Amino acid sequence: MSAYETERRRMVDEQIEAREIADPRVLAAMRQVPRHEFVPAAERAHAYEDRPLPIGEGQTISQPYIVALMTQLAGVGRGARVLEVGTGSGYQAAVLAACGAEVYSIEIVDALAKRAQQDLARLGIENVHVRSGDGYRGWPEAAPFDAIVVTAAAPQVPPALLSQLRTGGRLVIPVGETWHEQTLQVHTRTETGFDVQDVVPVRFVPMTGAVRGKP
Ligand SMILES: C[S@@+](CC[C@H](N)C(=O)[O-])C[C@H]1O[C@@H](n2cnc3c(N)ncnc32)[C@H](O)[C@@H]1O
Repeated sequence: MSAYETERRRMVDEQIEAREIADPRVLAAMRQVPRHEFVPAAERAHAYEDRPLPIGEGQTISQPYIVALMTQLAGVGRGARVLEVGTGSGYQAAVLAACGAEVYSIEIVDALAKRAQQDLARLGIENVHVRSGDGYRGWPEAAPFDAIVVTAAAPQVPPALLSQLRTGGRLVIPVGETWHEQTLQVHTRTETGFDVQDVVPVRFVPMTGAVRGKP
C-alpha cells in the first residue's frame, strides 16, 4: 500500500467515519479517489489533512469531511444524474462519479475548468463532463437532475437550479451573504413544492457571476 493510500484510509477513519458519515457508497468513494492528485504539487503533503487547501486562482478544494457530507446529503446512487456548480479542482466531481453518478460540472474560472478536465482525463475518470461558465443558470440540456451540489456560497438560491431538479431530487447548497453567516441547506423537490432543511454552518468561497447581479 502506498503512503498516500495509508493516509487516505486514516483520513476516512478519523475525519469521515468518526463523524456522522455512514453511507457505504460515500465511504468507499472517499477511500478510492486520490485527493493528492487534485491539489498543486506544493500542497500534496497536506492532501489528507482535515482542512481546505489552496488550488490557485484564489480558490480552494473543500475540506474532505465537507465533500463527504455534501455527497451523502445529495444521496446519489448508481446511474444518478448530478450537476455540480463549482468544479474547482474536480475532486468533488470525482467523488460523486465514484459513487456511480453521471456528473455535469460547471466552473466559472476558465483556467480551473481546463485543469480539472485534464486531471480527470489523466486519472481515467470518464463519467464527469466539465463546462467552463457561470453555473447560475444550471445546465438545462442535461436536466432534470437527481441531485445538484453547489460548492460556492450563494446569497440566495438560484431559481434555475431548483427548476432543474426532478421530483424527489435534492439541491445541496451553502446559502449566506457573508463568510460568517452561511448555512448548508438541502432543498428537496416534492410533488407540490420544496422541503428545506438547514444542516450545518459552513464557510465557502462566494459564488460569483449572475447571482451577484453581474452579466
Ligand atoms: C470551494 S471551490 C470548489 C471546490 C471543488 N468542488 C473541488 O472539489 O475542488 C468553489 C468553486 O466555485 C467556483 N464558482 C464560483 N462561482 C461560480 C459560478 N457562478 N459558477 C460556476 N463556478 C463558480 C469557484 O471559481 C471555485 O472554483
